[in-house]
Amino acid sequence: MTLQNILQNLLKRKNPDDALESAAKGGLEKTLGVWDLIILGVGAIIGSGIFAVVGLAAAGSADGATPGAGPALIVSMVVAAIACVFSALCFSEFASMIPVAGGAYSYAYATLGECVAWLVGWILMLEYVIAFIAVSCAWANYVIQFLKGFGHVLPAWLTNPPIWLVSDFRTAVHSLSNQGVDYHSVIPTICGIPFSINLPAALIILFITMTLVRGTKDSTKMATFMVVLKLGIIGLFILSGLFFVEPANWTPFAPNGLSGVFMGAFIIFFAYIGFDALATTAEECKNPQRDLPRGIIGSLIVTTIVYTLVALVLTGMYRTQGNVAPEFIGAPLAYAMENVLHGWAAKAVPGFMSVGIIAGLTSVLLVMQMAATRILYVMSRDHFLPKAFQKLHPKFNTPHVLTWTVCIVSIFGTLTLNLDAAAALCNFGTFTSFIIVCVAVLILRKIDPDRPRPFKVPFCPWFPLAGIGCCGGLMLFMMITSKGESAKLSTELFIAWIIMGALIYATYGYHKNRRAEKELVENKEIAEKDNVEINI
Ligand code: ALA
Repeated sequence: MTLQNILQNLLKRKNPDDALESAAKGGLEKTLGVWDLIILGVGAIIGSGIFAVVGLAAAGSADGATPGAGPALIVSMVVAAIACVFSALCFSEFASMIPVAGGAYSYAYATLGECVAWLVGWILMLEYVIAFIAVSCAWANYVIQFLKGFGHVLPAWLTNPPIWLVSDFRTAVHSLSNQGVDYHSVIPTICGIPFSINLPAALIILFITMTLVRGTKDSTKMATFMVVLKLGIIGLFILSGLFFVEPANWTPFAPNGLSGVFMGAFIIFFAYIGFDALATTAEECKNPQRDLPRGIIGSLIVTTIVYTLVALVLTGMYRTQGNVAPEFIGAPLAYAMENVLHGWAAKAVPGFMSVGIIAGLTSVLLVMQMAATRILYVMSRDHFLPKAFQKLHPKFNTPHVLTWTVCIVSIFGTLTLNLDAAAALCNFGTFTSFIIVCVAVLILRKIDPDRPRPFKVPFCPWFPLAGIGCCGGLMLFMMITSKGESAKLSTELFIAWIIMGALIYATYGYHKNRRAEKELVENKEIAEKDNVEINI
């Protein structure tokens, strides 16, 4: 095989009509309407970003390595939303034109060729599976905190469990050494190997997996309940918080200038991740051409309004500059409320808010795992992964083999993952996939201008170019300016992830695709021969 052949294979594009044909044969049930999509979108987007990460975006890190936006958090929110909106419009154009389950992966395959498509799929795993692992650990932390509040009624093993049952090994060792305790005396061993597991995180992963295997419609019903609950809690925070706003807390408006604002925008971008996951449900939509653009843009508008109101009230209620309590960074909304209330209300209201937060995180988990399995499903259909992964559940018609695979990988992930780096890593993956989707819109407009586009990005090429500029700019800003350890680690891990993906493609995916092509040609020849014999 010559170098030219190899290059041709690497750049081989999948005709969108072939992708649509495979989707039509796919057999996923079509149950989702526009409201289901908006609920799934809001369910995926509003989660640990606004309930936890927003503290760091507003106040920055205690060591000064990450400057906070301060009251200008609202500007950071808008900058991050603008970076998302251009990409959301590009996702909408593709989702209405090629409604298949692979999302950005399928769009890359139709425009940039096989090799880039595989890498995009690989990067999307970084976004969805790692976000899934990170949010499941955040969920576990909130549940543990919540149960602690019931110390006087619940048994001690539930309210104060041993550290090796609620943390991964590294976190457990770190927190024990901070208390001056030798981990050997606390963490048990199995065959000489120390054993520490985040059991609540593993249990919620199992629960989400079982729900998703039962079907998408059931999962959206569950997501609806949780979205209503979390929006209710956020609404309560905004309305009651308004009474405690001190305008003096809003000055100075941007204590760290533009660098604080842009760093805040990079960090809070995590809070917007999830609307892109909607594109992966395309094969389960009743009318994807009409409903997907509405679902994607609608959920982004709802969350942007909610986030800016939260930013305004939060920074007005609590002074996010000077001496900021570490509890504010961990649980900003609950802490800001606790700080202004007195007596029983100071305990009861944040406790009540935790229920909404736990529900909010659960709905994020649902959509993240759903998106990860749908992308893997399409990648397996395109011969990048073994065919066995495509198996649908005989009763529920869901890709149960893949759903369980993601479950097992994620449970292993919760044993080892560093959460700070995971969130930044997730941002890098998402920015890259957004940039590729914006580039792909420009390419497909050039190479296939006549394909019907039920939804078109306005002001093309300017809007896709603005998307590339905003996402690329924020990513570069973070890489260049951040002095934090987790930024460095996540940059290195991101590069390592891409190298690993390229190696897997070179040793497995590339060859599997060539074998599949050979089989296709052979089958075609046999069919033609049979046809000739029948005619004779
Ligand atoms: N946007 C999602 C969250 O904030 C990932 O949890």
